[in-house]
Amino acid sequence: MTAPALGKDLTGLEHMTPEQIRLILDTAEPFKEVSERPIKKVPALRGKTIVNLFFEASTRTRISFEFAEKRLSADTVNVAATGSSVSKGETLVDTARNLEAMRIDMVVIRHPSSGAAEFLGDRIASNVINAGDGKHEHPTQALLDLLTIRDKHGKIEGLKVCLVGDVLHSRVARSNLWGLSKLGAEVAVCGPWTLMPRGIQELGVTVFGRIEEAIEWADVLNVLRLQLERMEKGFIPSLREYYRVFGVTPERLERSPKPITIMHPGPMNRGVEIDSRVADGPHSVILDQVTNGVAVRMAVLYLLAGGRAELADAAKRGGGGGGGAGGGSE
Ligand code: CP
Repeated sequence: MTAPALGKDLTGLEHMTPEQIRLILDTAEPFKEVSERPIKKVPALRGKTIVNLFFEASTRTRISFEFAEKRLSADTVNVAATGSSVSKGETLVDTARNLEAMRIDMVVIRHPSSGAAEFLGDRIASNVINAGDGKHEHPTQALLDLLTIRDKHGKIEGLKVCLVGDVLHSRVARSNLWGLSKLGAEVAVCGPWTLMPRGIQELGVTVFGRIEEAIEWADVLNVLRLQLERMEKGFIPSLREYYRVFGVTPERLERSPKPITIMHPGPMNRGVEIDSRVADGPHSVILDQVTNGVAVRMAVLYLLAGGRAELADAAKRGGGGGGGAGGGSE
């Protein structure tokens, strides 16, 4: 059974409604507590089989999905490109169809090609969740960012949030832009013009060319990783120069009229886009983002499996409410 509230797949935030985004954030709330228990398990997805198909490196997203699945009592299998028949030339769809022949229910996919998650979702019956596709979207990262902002500030509407750095290569930036603007935040970007997508102003965001201006304006800075692996030479003169001009440092933040919440999706290039004293400082919520990632992914899995938001609290207590798989406590 698929929840009509979200549809079959979660491939991005661009085509989601504000109500659907709020539904995920609200459903994540009761799931936060499950990770604080001595026995971190509820039966909401018992009997469901989920495949994590990761064709690109990942620490946070892959492990966070795996924890979310296990804490909901799903059976999980991890598949990486190396070591699978993808390395012998098998196509993505053939791989997924072979997995479906073994009766799976959901696929979580990270892939270097933009659009891979939607492509797969259109071709298989299982629910597909995008865990990052090329430069396109990373929806669960943006959802956990939204939840973290809401936790810290009590709201998202009206907040000034600036995405700093390598916007051009960032799927996190794209998903954040959609999510933040749909929930009523004021959104800005800041970075060298070589790392800004063409036509960014047409999305209705403010563009800052100087980090000092962004710091003066923002309530929240979401500092993006400089994606060196996606760059050819020539985007920035050097890492040292980037840090000198755009690095988020305590000296720059001290000039802000108010404390600014500091976020980063990870992995961080310390001393390049962000100074360690800021990353580990009092206004950083970087590890809270990671903690919230598990609850947000539990909410996404639960809703796509047919769980009802109003029953998430009951599911968490072991009282059912999952996608037909609930009932009985563990
Ligand atoms: N934020 C994020 O996607 O991190 P990983 O690449 O480690 O999953």
